[in-house]
Amino acid sequence: MHIIESLQWRYATKKFDATKKLTSEQIEVLKNAFSLTATSFGLQPIKLVVIENKEIQESLVEHSFNQRQVADASHLLVICFQDEFTTEDIETYFSLVKEVRQTPDEVLNPFKDYLVDAFSKKTRDEMHTSFKNQAYIALGNLLNVCAIEKIDSCPMEGFVPEKYDELLNLKAQNLKSALILPIGFRAEDDFMKDLKKVRKPLDKTVIDIK
Ligand SMILES: Cc1cc2nc3c(=O)[nH]c(=O)nc-3n(C[C@H](O)[C@H](O)[C@H](O)COP(=O)(O)O)c2cc1C
Repeated sequence: MHIIESLQWRYATKKFDATKKLTSEQIEVLKNAFSLTATSFGLQPIKLVVIENKEIQESLVEHSFNQRQVADASHLLVICFQDEFTTEDIETYFSLVKEVRQTPDEVLNPFKDYLVDAFSKKTRDEMHTSFKNQAYIALGNLLNVCAIEKIDSCPMEGFVPEKYDELLNLKAQNLKSALILPIGFRAEDDFMKDLKKVRKPLDKTVIDIK
């Protein structure tokens, strides 16, 4: 299918068919797509939590403005970002580059030192803002991959991150929740499923400069 047809097919699913399950192969594709998301300097300060547990999903509905998608979806993805980010994280990244690419230290060290210095000057809030922005890139990537793979989804900011952090024990894992993405199958009676897409005309959203 042409990519634009896939993107037309995708919509923010309001009602999922709670009886249908995605396969482990489909979930594997999404995990890999998440991992392949571009991140600033390649540092990957984001993490994906994949929930396939009806009890947990039900318990999160009240902290998601009662949006049922969270419970009815086959799986609930929670895109998180790192709370504390230290020099050790930068060191770990460069060790991985060295291992994967066998890049010599003399090539890596100046860049590593630059990053250690740059990050040491950032406040916690600045880092969180940057990491959260990267969570949105992962969300966009996952939305598009879902569309191509014919997996229904609903991007969501409508939840209480602090409650998710508490219920999913994210703080202990040095994480904060940024975005959620229920995924699965659209319900036959989802009122949104056959509605036309509402978009401004292209000449109102794109500026061509030649
Ligand atoms: C960052 C973000 C947050 C959103 N939060 C919610 C949400 O909490 N609940 C919901 O039902 N839809 C949510 N949406 C879906 C939008 O309402 C939807 O994408 C938009 O109306 C365009 O419709 P379409 O995606 O079906 O083309 C969100 C979308 C984005 C990108």
